Amino acid sequence: MQVVQIPGFARTAVARENLAMTDVTNYLDGRTLILLSNREPYEHLASAEGIHVRQPPGGLVSALDPTMRRTGGIWVAWGSGSADRETADSVGRLGVPPFEPTYTLRRVWLTESDIDGYYLGFANSALWPLCHLLIQHFEFHNEHWECYQQINARFATAVYEESLRARTTPQVWVQDYHFALVPGELRRYAPDIFIHHFWHIPFPPPDMLRLLPTGVPAALLRGLLGNDLIEFHTERYAHNFLNCVREFVPEAQVRGESLRVSVDGRQVVLGVFPISIDVERFEQLALSAESDERANALRQRYARGGRALGVSVDRIDYTKGIPERLRALDRLWQESPELRERFTMIIVATPSRTELTPYQKLEAEVLATVRDINERYGTPDWEPIVLVHDNVHPELLAAVYRAADLCLVSSLQDGMNLVAKEFVASQVDEHGVLVLSRFAGAAEEIDEAVLINPFNVGGFADGIRTALEMDVGERTRRMRAMRAQLRRATIFDWLEAILARCADLMDDEEALASRERRRGFASNGAGNGSPHADGGAARDEYRLGETLP
Ligand code: ADP
Ligand code: F6P
Repeated sequence: MQVVQIPGFARTAVARENLAMTDVTNYLDGRTLILLSNREPYEHLASAEGIHVRQPPGGLVSALDPTMRRTGGIWVAWGSGSADRETADSVGRLGVPPFEPTYTLRRVWLTESDIDGYYLGFANSALWPLCHLLIQHFEFHNEHWECYQQINARFATAVYEESLRARTTPQVWVQDYHFALVPGELRRYAPDIFIHHFWHIPFPPPDMLRLLPTGVPAALLRGLLGNDLIEFHTERYAHNFLNCVREFVPEAQVRGESLRVSVDGRQVVLGVFPISIDVERFEQLALSAESDERANALRQRYARGGRALGVSVDRIDYTKGIPERLRALDRLWQESPELRERFTMIIVATPSRTELTPYQKLEAEVLATVRDINERYGTPDWEPIVLVHDNVHPELLAAVYRAADLCLVSSLQDGMNLVAKEFVASQVDEHGVLVLSRFAGAAEEIDEAVLINPFNVGGFADGIRTALEMDVGERTRRMRAMRAQLRRATIFDWLEAILARCADLMDDEEALASRERRRGFASNGAGNGSPHADGGAARDEYRLGETLP
């Protein structure tokens, strides 16, 4: 079958340049990184023209593909694309990125009923709304929870198999709320393996987890406590996690000041690592000749004659506050008729999780509201909202971000929100204003944005007005400051901080193990030592001695 290259893939040239910068692999010290996430970085899709490959939208993939390109290793994920089986080997493995492989993708196959129960069910109808404090969308079904447990066990097995295949000692890095039970499960097969976990979404306070049936919160938390290190975007999420452990796992000892938990004779450390983006890549995409041309064309079309141009980019998800954004725009054009024809909004919104009713309803609501606003305020010469109802490639995104005078991020709750950072990185002409929800993790990190509360429609409309009226000097000052701040905290700084922390913790563990070995040696007296007399022997033991669960 023919493989059709999509435009987004030109970016590999930029990624290769970055490889020459900091060598984060030093922190791995020769270990093989095994990353686990639900969403895969490259999805192969069958179409009439052949097989297409695409990168699914979402913060996790955007952030982790550049990091895996740097570290190499193995990425284990659900093979969700319609042509995924045809493009992988019999085990589900293939080299990626597809046109210039630097790491291995191991796909795991799920049936329709697995997807219904584990992904659409427990992960996205129970955990997702609870973690985002949006309980009106919360649904629990026992069969979903059972399926989540089974699928977590299946992914733990896949990771374990890859760890046996790895040529060097593995370090496992689990991602997100789809796999809360994997660390606990994996530790049963491989007690000495180093496991860490990045939680990409908010971690909720105990009252949210209490909405789950008795026993479920404790099972989730005990699963997560199988990690050596758990990483969150903000300190607030880390403290929420500790409060949940205090409430639901009574046998654990929580030390809030040092962000640690002692449980089952082990230490679990929490860390705060706000995720970021490949800043240089976005900057370079925005600076390219194509972007320049596209940005000019966009301004020519939508912002001619001194009109301002706004942008927003999201998956159509109820956490993103899209109806709230539309209400604020409606209020703005209603209350300030002088702003009609003075400001065009480009909304780039891609369908997401479309099998779920709340997402279907949201998509229908967004389409209907945009139509309604355009009908009420549009003129023969002006369409207030230009809706790009699609998954747009990064080159085009960078050009739209560059062209825009303001970017609206209106999340009701959001772990971080990478769109805010992509906008700042792409603002190479430094004229844009970031209007940012104070409920996005990014608001706790980025200074100089115009902060808004999406639940307060009048205040949100005022925030947009402030951005539109801000003078050029102030815009430039703010954008310059945000860009300087962002350059000091890129995705590679994030990766480096996490891997450095893991290396420190592994050193601590080795030091502890060696103290224990010495103690074992002294108490044995005979000098034949413990069976774990060296790291390699301990590892061989679990390699050879364990049968696959
Ligand atoms: P989430 O992880 O909840 O989707 P983020 O804002 O953190 O939210 O990350 C979204 C990522 O997905 C960004 O990299 C963004 O560019 C990408 N994305 C979102 N919507 C689209 C879209 N319509 N087209 C292309 N990429 C998108
Ligand atoms: O960032 C949160 C997240 O759930 C990621 O784990 C995920 O890849 C992204 O949002 C998009 O969602 P989905 O993978 O369900 O399409």
